[in-house]
Amino acid sequence: MANARQSASHGANHNGSSSGHRMAGKNAIITGAAGGIGLETTILFLREGASVLMCDISEPALERAVAIAKKAAPHMVGKVETAQCDVSKEAHVKAVCEQLDSWGGLDVMFNNAGIMHGDDADAVDTPEKIWDLTQAINVKGVWYGSKHAILSLRRHSKTCGSIINTASIVALVGSATPQLAYTASKGAVLAMTRELAIVHAREGYRFNALCPAPLNTPLLQDWLGDDKEKRLRREIHFPMGRFGEAIEQAQGVLFLASDESSFINGQDFVIDGGLTRAYVTADGPGPEAPKNLGR
Ligand SMILES: NC(=O)c1ccc[n+]([C@@H]2O[C@H](COP(=O)([O-])OP(=O)(O)OC[C@H]3O[C@@H](n4cnc5c(N)ncnc54)[C@H](O)[C@@H]3O)[C@@H](O)[C@H]2O)c1
Repeated sequence: MANARQSASHGANHNGSSSGHRMAGKNAIITGAAGGIGLETTILFLREGASVLMCDISEPALERAVAIAKKAAPHMVGKVETAQCDVSKEAHVKAVCEQLDSWGGLDVMFNNAGIMHGDDADAVDTPEKIWDLTQAINVKGVWYGSKHAILSLRRHSKTCGSIINTASIVALVGSATPQLAYTASKGAVLAMTRELAIVHAREGYRFNALCPAPLNTPLLQDWLGDDKEKRLRREIHFPMGRFGEAIEQAQGVLFLASDESSFINGQDFVIDGGLTRAYVTADGPGPEAPKNLGR
């Protein structure tokens, strides 16, 4: 699978962007690639020699994102293209997987697109249509992505492949700020990923679930605003005293996608700064967060 495209050298280059070949020759599909974790992962994959098909439901957002990705990975040796794709529609997912046939088939599928709807609430107040929409994107989307990744890997007689499905720590720990449909959907992603990992292990296809803790997004920062109490109520659960950054998730995805993780399969890959391991956290300021690449 990984082949000749290994011309990029390791190390920092003149504009500070590093380039390498941890993903040399690999073809990857990333869903939800227009922002957040998907965009940061696109940039890292490109910097490490992969070719990436960026997929998202929003075409204008994809156009903005691909321009950012190209700028942040100026020495890329692979290709980068975009495709509008609603992951809840099987025909869309099939089409993007088949689009990679002309590249030699996919090696990596990052099923990352997901929604957390504003009307998602508790058992009493969650509207049925929000429940159904959430499961259609977050669960069926991951099923379709996994299914068509497997079919592509088989079509191209690949002997290894890595599929990474984005779940969330809300599938592992409870929260008193309810979002029942979202939580249920991410629990389904964990269970589905585990089973896929076991079923396809002898074909060489690995499946792992990414479990991010809440990230520092502009939406979150706007919502927290200057409300110190609201902010503290959440930040106190993080041993490092801060939310995660998308780039910190993307670094984990890069590892899971590369051959470096060849014996990691069926895992709930938790990137949460220790949140799910914590009871009482320390006082005082914590270490600074790394900067995202696609800012
Ligand atoms: N941000 C967080 O705090 C956090 C925490 C845990 C898990 N996650 C999960 O991480 C994943 C990425 O989230 P994020 O916060 O980086 O990104 P985001 O919310 O910035 O981006 C998600 C992307 O998915 C796209 N999308 C939405 N519906 C789609 C559909 N039907 N088909 C294709 N694309 C669609 C959106 O247009 C968007 O670009 C999601 O699965 C999310 O649930 C996020």
